[in-house]
Amino acid sequence: MIKFEHVSKQYRGTPKPALDDVSFEVQRGEFVFLIGSSGSGKTSCLRLILKEDRPSRGAIHVLGQDLGTISTRKVPFFRRNLGVVFQDFRLLPNKTVYQNVAFTLQVIGQSRGFIQEAVPDVLETVGLGGKGDRMPHELSGGEQQRVAIARAVVNKPQILLADEPTGNLDPATSAGIMAVLQRINAAGTTVVMATHEAGLVDQMQKRVIELVGGRIIRDEREAGYGDTVAIPVLKPAPAPAPEQPVVVQLPTGVVAPVAAPAGARIVTAPVTVVAPEVAPPLELGIAERLGLRPTGTEGAPDGADQGGEA
Ligand SMILES: Nc1ncnc2c1ncn2[C@@H]1O[C@H](COP(=O)(O)OP(=O)(O)O)[C@@H](O)[C@H]1O
Ligand SMILES: [Mg+2]
Repeated sequence: MIKFEHVSKQYRGTPKPALDDVSFEVQRGEFVFLIGSSGSGKTSCLRLILKEDRPSRGAIHVLGQDLGTISTRKVPFFRRNLGVVFQDFRLLPNKTVYQNVAFTLQVIGQSRGFIQEAVPDVLETVGLGGKGDRMPHELSGGEQQRVAIARAVVNKPQILLADEPTGNLDPATSAGIMAVLQRINAAGTTVVMATHEAGLVDQMQKRVIELVGGRIIRDEREAGYGDTVAIPVLKPAPAPAPEQPVVVQLPTGVVAPVAAPAGARIVTAPVTVVAPEVAPPLELGIAERLGLRPTGTEGAPDGADQGGEA
């Protein structure tokens, strides 16, 4: 699902590489913590997965595609398979909760009917049922992050990347966010979360990949953060893929059951139904930041519902 082969990343004008000969593989359905102190290379790693940047050396495969050969034109479409959540939420301040989540779908041209079903469903999933009409500033930090998560997963991405998603939240609120991420993972989405917060990682007992100075010093299944420091252990993770996955068929617009059997593969009706080559030129700056901006195009497709004001 995600494969790094001897990946190094050195930014221009820096003496040391941000990532140094990093190799790992993440299987479908895994929940992986990418841990390490500030500056250890976590964000660089996530940006490479999103193809927001290119490695200086090595190869990266995501969802079966070699990111080194994927054309610029195809990058926006590739990114539709990935949801992203950031530490600072990045909500649109002048839109309601509902509009924030719907916006992503409007940009990629989903039908009004799909949006009207999917948005309330996903808000329910993240524990915000009934709060669709609120404005971001009327929400707590934890609630704002739930909106951001809803937005990231509403189009059912195969992979959810979260970069320090609890970095601005208190421990109790963070635990709630972790529960949401776990629920999304249980429903079949692969989750990679970067964090330096030991407490969370210890509680979750998930796979941990630890970076120090851009190098992987530990890759362990069901680990806690605290096991680290003294004796780094390198254990390649066995592939968890079951031989005969349970397949759960969901109708379009249904956002994942709360709990699926371990190893279950969730199958939904295709969500990339109406994916026009061209997206509406609405708030492109933000769309771009969300990885939604198509390249080399202007103008809106017929019938694209832009909803809301800018
Ligand atoms: N755009 C950039 N240009 C130059 N150096 C960068 C850039 N982004 C990150 N770095 C450097 O790369 C290293 C890893 O950074 P980063 O991936 O952001 O780590 P983390 O997310 O773990 O804090 C740091 O030394 C950082 O200063
Ligand atoms: Mg970072």
